[in-house]
Formats: sequence, C-alpha cells, structure tokens
Amino acid sequence: MRQPKILVVGSMNMDVNIYGVPKIPDYGESVACRSYLYSIGGKGSNQAYAAALQGADVTMVGRVGQDDNGYILARELEKAGVNTSHIVFDQEAQTGLAPIMVDPSGKYVSYVVLGANNNLRPEDVKKAINSDYYDMVVMQLEIPLETVYKTYEFASAKGIPVFLDAGPAMKISLESLKGMYIISPNEAETKALTGITVDSEQKALEASKRLFSEAEPQFVILKMGSQGAYIYDGTKGRMYPAYKIETVDSTGAGDTFNAVLAFKLCQGMDLDEAVKHANAAAALCVSRKGALTSIPTLREVDEFLKVIDKKNNKLAAN
Ligand code: RIB
Repeated sequence: MRQPKILVVGSMNMDVNIYGVPKIPDYGESVACRSYLYSIGGKGSNQAYAAALQGADVTMVGRVGQDDNGYILARELEKAGVNTSHIVFDQEAQTGLAPIMVDPSGKYVSYVVLGANNNLRPEDVKKAINSDYYDMVVMQLEIPLETVYKTYEFASAKGIPVFLDAGPAMKISLESLKGMYIISPNEAETKALTGITVDSEQKALEASKRLFSEAEPQFVILKMGSQGAYIYDGTKGRMYPAYKIETVDSTGAGDTFNAVLAFKLCQGMDLDEAVKHANAAAALCVSRKGALTSIPTLREVDEFLKVIDKKNNKLAAN
C-alpha cells in the first residue's frame, strides 16, 4: 500500500501539564497540585506526530520561536520522521506555551500563549503546498484565521481534501471553508460554532445538521469525549462509542483521533474501520500522561484492537 502523504498546518506548543488539580482557583488563590510534566504539544504537532507514528509521510508547517522549546519541538517531530523543513523559526515571537490543568478524572482546562503560532503566514503554507503533492491537508484553528482560510484556498486549487479539526473553541465563519472534506469539533467547539450543547445523540444530530448546512463537508465528525464520536454524512448520523479505559489525561486525545482517522482514510480504509482505529488510538492516548508523550504507535493500536476483538469473539461464542 502506498504511504499516504499528509500536510499538517497548525500550532506547535510546549505544554506543561499539572496533575492532581483539585479545583480551578479563584483570583488571588493558590491551589496545591500533585505533579507536572513538560510535554510537546500544540494541536498541529500532536496531529503531525500521531499521523507519523501510524506510518504517514508527514510534512509540518508551523512557527516556533528561536528558543529552546522551539528547537526541542522541531527535533522531536524530526525524530518521528516528520518533514520539518517547513517549520519556521520566528525571529521575534516565543514558542507557544500551554499550561494545562488536569483534574483527577483526566479532564483538563488550559491556557495557551500562542506566541509564534500567531505569526504563521499564508506564504509559509504556500511554499509547502507548492513543494510537493499531498493526499490530505489537516489543519486546526490555533493559527491566524487568515492562514486557515488561505490554506483551504491553496489546497482546494490543487484538489487536495482538507480535514479541519475545529479547535480551539471559537465562532468562525465557515462560508469560505465550504466543501471541505471533514469538519471535526469537540463538544466545546461544537457549542462555540453552533450554540448547541451536544449532550445526547439527538443534540449531536441537530448540531451536525447545522454544521453540514454551513460548511457542506463530506462528513461532520463530532468528538464527544468518553461518549465517542458522532458522524454525520448529510443524510444519517451514527454514534461510534469510545472504548472504555481508565482516563489519566485526555490532552491530545482529539488530535490523535483525527490524525489516525485522516491517515486511515488516506489509506483507503472504509469509514467504520477507520473510526475503530481512531477510537482505539484516542483510548490509548487518554490512558497516559501528556500530549505527544501519550500518542500510540501503529503497533500499539493494532495490539489494542486485537485484544478487543478477542474479547468480543469470546463473548459472542458464550
Ligand atoms: O489539543 C491539545 C493541545 O491543545 C495541547 O497539546 C495544547 O498545546 C493545546 O494546543
């Protein structure tokens, strides 16, 4: 099978995850927590890394500062086999930084200092898009909106399908992104885009229909955390339940889900099977700490699914 070529256009951050966070402090209050972990993150880096660990030929377009964090980020992606020649080392801005507070159930809240991500220009993307062919462009919203819209324009002109991870949560116009391949927000992002809280399948269908009529994609894919993923294709919606696993830290799970899904679809896998792999990768991701540090390899995902299939076969036989 040919190795899919994916262009990831997005953010690159250094994350510092704080664990054992009992509550979000009030102003003037300090809250004692248990431990912390520096981990490479940023929605773009996470997705590039996750796709590379599956076996994709990935090129990353992003901006970091000329500082230790920037060099560490580029080096780690390179070690995973990502083409880093389109990462720009910004002369003025610092590398993005995300302090992430993780509660005992693995859920998190986060701040992001976007830093150099804010300077990612359409020209940075144009250079990368023009330098090679790609099976898919994967992007998110942690970079300037102008760059997001221009990326879509450049990719569409070349007939490359665009997969938009609609994070972080913000209300944007989807008018200039009409016809994208996939739009994939999580619950908070769906709420920001549609005003709908997706706390049931009925609400998921309602939100999906709204996104579908605005963005006219091939698929709307709602990431609904521990509930799983809801996929709508313009006529029908279906819930793909998440695998049950102990959640330690959900950072990067959505990024992992989308990157694995993008990779499998590029490989020509059918949607049901691709979602199964993406859900498995996300489950492994939430069972570990950090963003990049928690992203599983192809082998780990395959092993995980083998165990699940074995269990299901046993249940069916009994
Ligand atoms: O999606 C998770 C990511 O969002 C983190 O790695 C953090 O850097 C923020 O960009």
